[in-house]
Amino acid sequence: MHLCAVNNNNIKTQTMNTAVSTTKVAIIGLGNIGKAMATNLTKGNQPVIIASRDLEKAKEFAVSLGSSATAEEITVAIKNADIVIPAVYFDKIKEFLKTHANELAGKIIIDVSNPIAPDGKGGFKKTIDQDQSAGKILSELTPADTVFVKAFGTLGAGSLVSAAFSEPERNVLFYASDNTNSNNKIEALITASGFAPFHIGGIDQSIRIEVFGDLHEFGALGKTVTLEEAGKSVHQR
Ligand SMILES: NC(=O)c1ccc[n+]([C@@H]2O[C@H](COP(=O)([O-])OP(=O)(O)OC[C@H]3O[C@@H](n4cnc5c(N)ncnc54)[C@H](OP(=O)(O)O)[C@@H]3O)[C@@H](O)[C@H]2O)c1
Repeated sequence: MHLCAVNNNNIKTQTMNTAVSTTKVAIIGLGNIGKAMATNLTKGNQPVIIASRDLEKAKEFAVSLGSSATAEEITVAIKNADIVIPAVYFDKIKEFLKTHANELAGKIIIDVSNPIAPDGKGGFKKTIDQDQSAGKILSELTPADTVFVKAFGTLGAGSLVSAAFSEPERNVLFYASDNTNSNNKIEALITASGFAPFHIGGIDQSIRIEVFGDLHEFGALGKTVTLEEAGKSVHQR
């Protein structure tokens, strides 16, 4: 199957890989976003390692996903993975990066976080300065020999499931990364999860794809978009 993908401002044709991926992906945390990502990835033929503070809970969830999922303790999962996704809150990721610095050496770390909290009026507010992003802050806390990527947090968990594998055109998941050598792996992962990848630039662009950002579902963009719509939105600023 061929998908039209836009990356680095170019339109190119991308062949969708339906073979089982050999990249090992660990998802840490079984909340809304961790479960949504694991569900989409296994549906897309991507094996995942499920990890949680509660191994029994992880095993139970892995069984519910079928043979593409296995469950492991958090430290083992990180060691066995190429890509590690801590699907936990911003402040917990800071702790996670410190606690697991040794096992994270050589890994790609994907940050899904949005630095927000309830504002007490039924909405949400940013927990960091308006001009800051979780992606930039966390990227500066990662061990030197890791690759840091911002992805999978641009949609709410509901849309991440309901908008995946859309036909005839895939919806877009934006991502940001400085190390473009790893982009093939990130794009394969986003594709396996039922979306079309769109690289918006370096980690300094993370603010655009976090809540309140101009490319977030809960920001100026306000919806899911196709590649063509994404291309227009990215350059509209
Ligand atoms: N919900 C959304 O719509 C959405 C959308 C985009 C991005 N995000 C981002 O995704 C992240 C998770 O959000 P969520 O809605 O999925 O939250 P959630 O449902 O509250 O789940 C968070 C999970 O974090 C795990 N956890 C907490 N502390 C941990 C620690 N120290 N070590 C390991 N695991 C820990 C817990 O998993 P266990 O129970 O397995 O221990 C918990 O289930 C946040 O950064 C959020 O900003 C959320």
